Amino acid sequence: MKTFKAGVIGTGYIGPAHIEALRRIGVVEVTAIAEANQPLAEKKAQQLSVPKAYGDYRRMLADKDIDVLHNCTPNFMHLQVNKDILNAGKHCISEKPLGMNSRESAELVSLAQEKRLVNAVNFNYRYYPLVQQARMMVKNGELGRVFAVQGCYMQDWLLYDTDWSWRLDPQMAGGSRVMGDIGSHWFDLIRFVTGKKIVKIFADLLTLHEYRKKPKGEIETFSGKELRPEDYEKVKIDSEGYGHVLLQFDDGGKGMTCISHVSSGRKNHIVFELDGTGKSIWWDHERPNELMIGHRNEPNQLMLKDAVLMDNAVKDYAHYPAGHNEGYPTAVKNFCRNVYRYIAGESQEIDFATFEDGHIADVVVEAVIESHKTQKWVPVDY
Ligand SMILES: NC(=O)c1ccc[n+]([C@@H]2O[C@H](COP(=O)([O-])OP(=O)(O)OC[C@H]3O[C@@H](n4cnc5c(N)ncnc54)[C@H](O)[C@@H]3O)[C@@H](O)[C@H]2O)c1
Repeated sequence: MKTFKAGVIGTGYIGPAHIEALRRIGVVEVTAIAEANQPLAEKKAQQLSVPKAYGDYRRMLADKDIDVLHNCTPNFMHLQVNKDILNAGKHCISEKPLGMNSRESAELVSLAQEKRLVNAVNFNYRYYPLVQQARMMVKNGELGRVFAVQGCYMQDWLLYDTDWSWRLDPQMAGGSRVMGDIGSHWFDLIRFVTGKKIVKIFADLLTLHEYRKKPKGEIETFSGKELRPEDYEKVKIDSEGYGHVLLQFDDGGKGMTCISHVSSGRKNHIVFELDGTGKSIWWDHERPNELMIGHRNEPNQLMLKDAVLMDNAVKDYAHYPAGHNEGYPTAVKNFCRNVYRYIAGESQEIDFATFEDGHIADVVVEAVIESHKTQKWVPVDY
């Protein structure tokens, strides 16, 4: 395959995951990173063994060597950084949520179309081998008519009022917290696996702590320590940390989910369960190499990740033999592989989430927030 040079903007948590994935697909050299300032960029470039460091991503955009840019900055920067990438004539791989709201993401969809550049959003849960398998089973009619979808996405890292993150600040995260941050993944995953369109939503949300204690210094400085009153400021919280959502799909199917940042012991518990008129299936991200197939009249089956047994169309999402577990890094690698082989012209199929999908996730999340406010079913218009 053709080889590429990439730059990664933002190297906090997810930026290094992109870099690792790019190195694993083997045809992309990460030549530069950009960070919030020059000293930090240099420190991160050294840690990540990347040759060039930019303290201002706009200087990186002028780097003629770079073909593709990955935007791994916090949400509030996505619109401007993605626009700048596209206007510089580079292909753009963005983190989710695509915009702070659906107006921003719609603008990005239009710009990407106008510039005719490849655009992608990292909804990485699509790319697990057995998620791909589940989608093929639905597509091939193996479950019969899928009439119901359940599931959840639950974490616990914002349980205490002393837990703090930029995701609690609407100026940085957008008009939603848990729904935009992780609900967006679940809604995208369900759209992807079932092929259904979400048409109506009813939501009921909760803000667990009306006030939180925001550390006055670097968050790392306080981790594991008790905050003294002089260490924090009391901040009013309006965004949701927990919520229940009912869904209606275009084919009359029903859905139900629970999304949480505050469920003790749940680390990254993303689950879906599909009920079909013939069979059901369920998948749990924390046991990603297992897909349960539920039967009415015979014992249930546990399908292990095994390329030999998987649908031919998706075997190449599994890279190691059966019994050799694959997880989160494999999903990000598969995402990057799909995008770069499309950029290389080796595949004509857009088998990755695009800005259009990012926009749809923003529209769905907005409907969730609107439904909670009005306590009514809200149509989802995309
Ligand atoms: N797809 C996924 O599974 C997944 C997982 C985590 C985060 N995310 C998304 O990725 C984005 C980043 O999240 P994170 O958890 O890595 O956040 P983070 O806070 O750990 O990292 C953000 C990085 O951006 C850098 N940054 C800030 N201003 C910058 C600037 N002007 N130029 C360049 N870099 C700048 C920060 O210094 C930091 O290193 C968010 O939008 C988040 O929703 C996606």
